[in-house]
Amino acid sequence: DALAELLRTMPKTELHIHIEGSLEPELIFELARRNGVALAYPDVDGLRRAYAFTDLQSFLDIYYAGASVLQTEADFFDMAMAYFRRAVADGVVHAELFFDPQTHTDRGVPFETVIRGLTRARETAQRELGLSSALILCFLRHLSEEAAFETLEEALPWRDHFVGVGLDSSERGHPPEKFAKVFARCRELGLRLVAHAGEEGPPAYVWSALDVLKVERIDHGVRALEDANLVQRLARDRVPLTVCPLSNVKLRVFDRLSDHNLGQLLASGLVATVNSDDPAYFGGYLHQNFVETFAALPALQAPQAYTLARNSIEASFAQASAKARWI
Ligand code: ADE
Ligand code: ZN
Repeated sequence: DALAELLRTMPKTELHIHIEGSLEPELIFELARRNGVALAYPDVDGLRRAYAFTDLQSFLDIYYAGASVLQTEADFFDMAMAYFRRAVADGVVHAELFFDPQTHTDRGVPFETVIRGLTRARETAQRELGLSSALILCFLRHLSEEAAFETLEEALPWRDHFVGVGLDSSERGHPPEKFAKVFARCRELGLRLVAHAGEEGPPAYVWSALDVLKVERIDHGVRALEDANLVQRLARDRVPLTVCPLSNVKLRVFDRLSDHNLGQLLASGLVATVNSDDPAYFGGYLHQNFVETFAALPALQAPQAYTLARNSIEASFAQASAKARWI
């Protein structure tokens, strides 16, 4: 229909996609074969059947196991190219990809292998698909701040290959302020700053992401609505929220898509965007997130579609000249 067509064709960015979360079961098995890695599941269907999550941690356990098949530069290239093709099909003009170096370096895969594969995919996507992109290095918050500093050291020779840093993995019990020093260092280095906060964690984690880490965007942030003062702060400063509706249902942040608060976030004047998070695990890429969410929430119509697309462009770290072209 016309709304679905608008949702697909309107120029938009994707700002919350963990590239390791785009690894489809078929590619997991292909890479396992290519690299001689043994998997705990007999086949693609058996693996997919394990994708029944009760919370964030139950997902992360399977997500990190899936990423273990990634070993060579070609593996990272193939994974990212598969995502870029799907993004272009969904009308994405610019994508900012999270990657989790510690998931790979802790298995003995060099940082250089990861960044070279992803960078070569970005260059190919720009050249062959006309897709603009950037990389955001995420620190795993269940690990120590010291480990984050070690990762930053390894990454610095590749400083011009990524635009910023983020914070992901297990939220509860790992508040943003645990990473105050490393984010301060990244800020001095001129890196852009984002953090996951208010997905499973409380509004207090959104406050400390803003006030202690000084991030420019909040990843998820849906629990911010529990705190009226926080909503006022996010609205006043136009801090973007990278919301991931299908993820929130799969990880039981909301019971049903019809319970999702995206409509209220927009109505409260917040700069919300729609994103896929880990599309291979959560039931769909960006367009699927848009169509299912718009179908479930009657408050979302064409005006909200335009607002979400414009928000995604405004909230991106792309150059001002590129943003002007897309809006
Ligand atoms: N890593 C991949 N997806 C994530 C999510 N939704 N929250 C936290 N860490 C993640
Ligand atoms: Zn995420």
